[in-house]
Amino acid sequence: MKIAILSRQPRCYSTSRLKKAAAERGHKVRILDTLRFSMQVEHGNPDMYYGNKPLPSIDAVIPRIGSSITFFGVAVVKQFEEMGVYTANESLAIRSSRDKLRAMQILSRYDVGIPATIFVRDKDDIMPSIERIGGPPVIIKLLEGTQGVGVILAETSKVAEAIIQALHSAKQNVLIQKFVKESKGTDVRALVVGDRVVAAMRRRGAPGEFRSNVHRGGSTEVFDLPDDYQHTAVRAAQITGLRIAGVDMLESNDGPQVLEVNSSPGLEGIETATGIDVAGEIIADIENNVLFPDVDLKQRLRLAGGFGLVEFVVHKMPDLEKKALRDAPLQEKDIHVMSITRENAVIPNPKGDEIIRKGDLLLCYGELHELRNFAKNRKRKPKKSKLINRQPTD
Ligand SMILES: Nc1ncnc2c1ncn2[C@@H]1O[C@H](COP(=O)(O)OP(=O)(O)O)[C@@H](O)[C@H]1O
Ligand SMILES: [Mg+2]
Repeated sequence: MKIAILSRQPRCYSTSRLKKAAAERGHKVRILDTLRFSMQVEHGNPDMYYGNKPLPSIDAVIPRIGSSITFFGVAVVKQFEEMGVYTANESLAIRSSRDKLRAMQILSRYDVGIPATIFVRDKDDIMPSIERIGGPPVIIKLLEGTQGVGVILAETSKVAEAIIQALHSAKQNVLIQKFVKESKGTDVRALVVGDRVVAAMRRRGAPGEFRSNVHRGGSTEVFDLPDDYQHTAVRAAQITGLRIAGVDMLESNDGPQVLEVNSSPGLEGIETATGIDVAGEIIADIENNVLFPDVDLKQRLRLAGGFGLVEFVVHKMPDLEKKALRDAPLQEKDIHVMSITRENAVIPNPKGDEIIRKGDLLLCYGELHELRNFAKNRKRKPKKSKLINRQPTD
């Protein structure tokens, strides 16, 4: 395979490890500077130049997009996707996960623990919002901060209000988050590749420091990740749409709480702490998936005009409840059940003999008017029911 690593730092640990791991597995690998691409957006012919020369042929791309170049970097990854080249992480998922608020919003709908988080603009809304999440101390975060720099602990509501106002006046968007004090300056980093955690570590902040980032003087230690943390990390990566992700979690009294999902996780800390060949795992995952470049589901569904994906909870639906899928009035309307979510587990591509239960979340594909009729016949609209004509990652 011909693999390109998109990186501005060819000599940094992560980039060189990925290059070496790819070469060791017999691939041709090049490190390309993300900012040297020119994208040609042209009718029917998405194209790209590198350093003003036509792009060499590439089978797979590993994006390592730094936070300072998110906009351009995501555009480069998107262009590769449009050209049918496999990308280890999708552009949309990189963009969504980069913004801490957006990532929390996406996660909040699913069975993943997150610290209570608030986003406000009006000065008068700050104090009441802080009270709603249990009062001070609270954490204030820049939406796109990294390495702990934009993360502040405010001991009182007054201080929090002053900091938020100062940041707002400097045109910075911030979120307010419940301070999980029982995590005591530590967090857990799980490295997810595909659908599993390949390595994990605990990070401990320097003495007197609540931030555990290694860039803030934090240290690392091996951590045998309990099952609920493994599950949460994999779910967080799946929900944000990242195949390769560094998932940061706090050990709260209520179990794992996800802080962020990093699309270009650093490899040095985790490989050194655990001795695991994470770079090799990433290359192996690419080998397994390169035949399937990303499909822009939203776009494909629109092209199909009138068709869509609908998700609803089975609730007061006698036509469906306790019936086998093949006996429910779905097939006759050409409605395909793509998956059933039951007690937080997903049954993909369920068979005809699967019995539908009350509380099941059905993901269906079909003609929108059929799906709407079907939803209309329900006696009562349960709170969670929703039409989702969109990609789960956005
Ligand atoms: N809500 C919180 N409660 C307790 N500690 C937190 C909280 N949010 C962040 N921290 C600490 O601050 C560190 C940096 O926060 P994070 O959201 O990961 O931002 P960054 O992107 O800058 O790393 C975390 O690793 C954790 O140690
Ligand atoms: Mg972090």
